Amino acid sequence: MSTHIRSEPAQKRARTLEPMCGIVGYVGSRPSQDILLAGLARLEYRGYDSAGIAVIDDAGSLGMRKKAGKLRALRDSLADAALADGHTGIGHTRWATHGGPTDANAHPHLADDDRLALIHNGIIENFAALRAELEAEGTTFRSETDTEVAAALLGHEFRRTGNLAEAFRAVVNRLEGAFTLLAVHQDEPGLVVAARRNSPLVIGLGEGENFLGSDVAAFVEHTRHALAVGEDEIVTITPSAVTVTDFAGNVVEPVPFEVSWDPASAEKGGWPSFMAKEVAEQPEAVANTIRGRVHDGAVVIPELEGSDDLFRGIDRVIITACGTASYAAMVGKYALEQWARVPVDVELAHEFRYRDPVIGANTLVVSISQSGETMDTLMAVKYANERGARTLSICNTQGATIPRESDAVVYTHAGPEVAVASTKAFVAQITALLLLGLHAGRVRGSVSAADAAEAVAELEALPAKIATVLSEEQAHVTQLGGWMADTRSVLFLGRHVGYPIALEGALKLKEISYIHAEGFAAGELKHGPIALIEPGQPVFVLVPSPRHSALLHAKVVSNIQEIRARGARVIVVAEEGDAAVLPFADEVIRIPLAGALFEPLLAVVPLQIFAMALATAKGLDVDQPRNLAKSVTVE
Ligand code: F6R
Repeated sequence: MSTHIRSEPAQKRARTLEPMCGIVGYVGSRPSQDILLAGLARLEYRGYDSAGIAVIDDAGSLGMRKKAGKLRALRDSLADAALADGHTGIGHTRWATHGGPTDANAHPHLADDDRLALIHNGIIENFAALRAELEAEGTTFRSETDTEVAAALLGHEFRRTGNLAEAFRAVVNRLEGAFTLLAVHQDEPGLVVAARRNSPLVIGLGEGENFLGSDVAAFVEHTRHALAVGEDEIVTITPSAVTVTDFAGNVVEPVPFEVSWDPASAEKGGWPSFMAKEVAEQPEAVANTIRGRVHDGAVVIPELEGSDDLFRGIDRVIITACGTASYAAMVGKYALEQWARVPVDVELAHEFRYRDPVIGANTLVVSISQSGETMDTLMAVKYANERGARTLSICNTQGATIPRESDAVVYTHAGPEVAVASTKAFVAQITALLLLGLHAGRVRGSVSAADAAEAVAELEALPAKIATVLSEEQAHVTQLGGWMADTRSVLFLGRHVGYPIALEGALKLKEISYIHAEGFAAGELKHGPIALIEPGQPVFVLVPSPRHSALLHAKVVSNIQEIRARGARVIVVAEEGDAAVLPFADEVIRIPLAGALFEPLLAVVPLQIFAMALATAKGLDVDQPRNLAKSVTVE
């Protein structure tokens, strides 16, 4: 592909694990505590079991505060007794791996007589050996974390070299595993040093100030100018300069990019939750993903310019992703096969590379990831690169690792998604896949101009139709969710593209309301799952339009009759005017008429609202469900 954005060779690395934590760093002239806390609030989706900050104050002393619990606990502690403020600092929000979520295990970790503070996202795999070595030399530890070992090593090296960047170089070369490390030392105020291996880090460039973050959400309210940091690089930021070197100390040129996210879009802005806001933003997410990619009734994706030969030459597509993104992939399979006439397989990223898939130079591996940092998906992309496939990522986060590791990227423009449960990114992913299918179909000559124009008209009508579902069904579905707060299990049935939506409806409910939910292909029902149906069992059924396939529609209606006869409480999602479902449905949720491949973008909306309403009725935190973090950067 002409859009060759891979910034470095795909390297074969040791298997690494990386937990998800949020990291922010600041140097400048403004009070650093506010900037760090605001950055952490935006990164809290990455982990929220403890948080901490370290600041070098104006008298040149290092102050540190950390607290178990959500960021609120740290804020409250600082409100009770603030740290002396300064203009250099680092902050961390944690998702525990080594050591439980306690104050002691929270980051930052201190060393060099508490003059140095270090934070870490990742897992240091050789930490036990390093800790034993340090303990033998007399170092004592205050936590159970692997991170404190890195802090202690850095303290030793700083005492030896008197230079934080140099000390960093010595330390990172001794660490194995995955890490983003940020550190400050009170003897070098006005400096934050960072390093990255298999874990995300981006730089934000300000006027007289600079930022570091796990992703651009950490600093997007201050600057949209950013630099991507490559693997195995060390970064130093001062108020006026940014330097990037490799682990050997050779200067490297980081890749600049502009962040297109509107900072206001990462704020809750009066909505009860980020999830509610993000569900409401779906018309915009779809419209923004289409924007600039339709010309004269045809889809032309500018990022794929120059890749026509590649699209003509591929004989197979594998779409790889995890969770919600993998359900978008399933919808994408239908679209690519229909329009581009190429066989498509969907592979969960964590299964893909543990077998011996048939991949060659004519295989296109499409990865889908909202965060662009999901470790399973990243490893699948690296594996595909190693096996000689062409790789294309569909991603929502600029500067993220997965697009950097891929030959090309098609960004979804859903804006920052903060709630852990994915909603607007999902509809944007499906939109990007529909665009990709039409683009590839045009290039391969497998979709007629008339069919393409009809599909484009359908695409362009989607935002208004999603808005209609939101305005017409929000109250009704919210009421249903409230009524069903005590329900212990909900089933979801769909066929064709309704099947992945049934899976997505079940996943949304599981993750935010903690009740048992399962999605099935409706045709599979009598091969086993129908045994689950007992009187009162709620079942959502996604009914395909009779206008597209009378046969498929009739089959789903007969599935409804089968479950109804066994006492199921049937909640139907069907298009306007479909009267065939009325005699058998306890509740009917209506969606506007749309083409078969476009219905998923409408049908998923009531399922998202239902999950949110039920979880809210149970008094749960819909944005930060238990045990989950947004970026699953652990294999
Ligand atoms: C569910 C959800 C997850 C993610 C999955 C992949 O609501 O958000 O299932 O879809 O972890 O994440 P990304 O898209 O960031 O690779």
